Amino acid sequence: MAILITGGAGYIGSHTVRYFLDQGEEVIVVDNLQSGHKELVQTDKFYNLDIRDKERLDKVFKENKIEGVIHFAANSLVGESMTNPYEYYHNNVYGMLCLLDIMRQNHVDRIVFSSTAATYGEPKNIPILEDDETNPTNPYGETKLAMEKMMEWFDIAYGIKYVSLRYFNAAGAHESGEIGEMHNPETHLIPLILQVPLGIRDKIYIFGDDYPTKDGTCVRDYIHVMDLASAHYLAYKHLLNGNNSEIFNLGNGNGYTVKEVIESARRITNHPIPAEIAKRRDGDPAVLVASSQKIKKVLNWNPQYDSLERIIQDAWSWHNK
Ligand code: UFG
Repeated sequence: MAILITGGAGYIGSHTVRYFLDQGEEVIVVDNLQSGHKELVQTDKFYNLDIRDKERLDKVFKENKIEGVIHFAANSLVGESMTNPYEYYHNNVYGMLCLLDIMRQNHVDRIVFSSTAATYGEPKNIPILEDDETNPTNPYGETKLAMEKMMEWFDIAYGIKYVSLRYFNAAGAHESGEIGEMHNPETHLIPLILQVPLGIRDKIYIFGDDYPTKDGTCVRDYIHVMDLASAHYLAYKHLLNGNNSEIFNLGNGNGYTVKEVIESARRITNHPIPAEIAKRRDGDPAVLVASSQKIKKVLNWNPQYDSLERIIQDAWSWHNK
């Protein structure tokens, strides 16, 4: 029996494919390569297709014995979602509808879903708990929340069980250096910082230093992409064992400021990495830190690469290559 991984050519998708392959699982990847990269897919069982193409998606289910789905395929940039909500609703929400419908028709009733801290919006409490209020401040978070709700109703009506993983700030790369983060355009802090020692940019801009945090810069909870990957595996096994649907946060529970991340990157790369204060970026909450107690307790998830140094070190090895 095989596991279908949609969006398996993307950043987190490709690392999860690698993790499942390393556990000896049979993996089938579907990706439209809109933002994914074929060279990151470490299996030959690859279909270049859009999940909204239901006819072709159905064929994938008919040609293979699929026992469950890990769903990454989606648009995932907060800023872009503000200017192009149509695309986010179409790809994310309609895409999910197509996928769940084909799963239902083919009697596949397990899905692990790639959700986000953006479902919470501006948090009222830190660390954030799974049952805290969800009030997204952008279409990206809004569509991911709608996708979660869709799964909830499909569970009630059709018995499709799901685990939704709300990631905080994914970073790092596989330690082999074979796969890593490859966004174009890049908007995430750690790869942008590393572009300075790589000679791609002169300096890093710090978006705001007047937040109510210890050094005035935003605090985020960075989580190593391979720790995310292992959580998907445990979530999948949870469903395979006949357990109920769940929503879990996925972070380290440690917050680092933008300045602390830059400082750590300076030590690791041995480069001065000039930084300049710029104005705040719209929609950035001051602090986003997860409570991951629930996933630790229920799935026995135990992050292996939870220091900021390790995360930046692995990202550096990849980008340097
Ligand atoms: N930042 C800078 N300079 C840069 C880039 C980022 O100072 O050049 C700051 C941002 O303002 C933010 C922090 O670095 O405070 C992290 O920014 P990222 O863009 O790397 O990540 P975000 O926290 O904005 O985004 C993450 C996930 C999204 C998710 C979001 C929830 O990547 O998928 O959290 O708010 F939607």
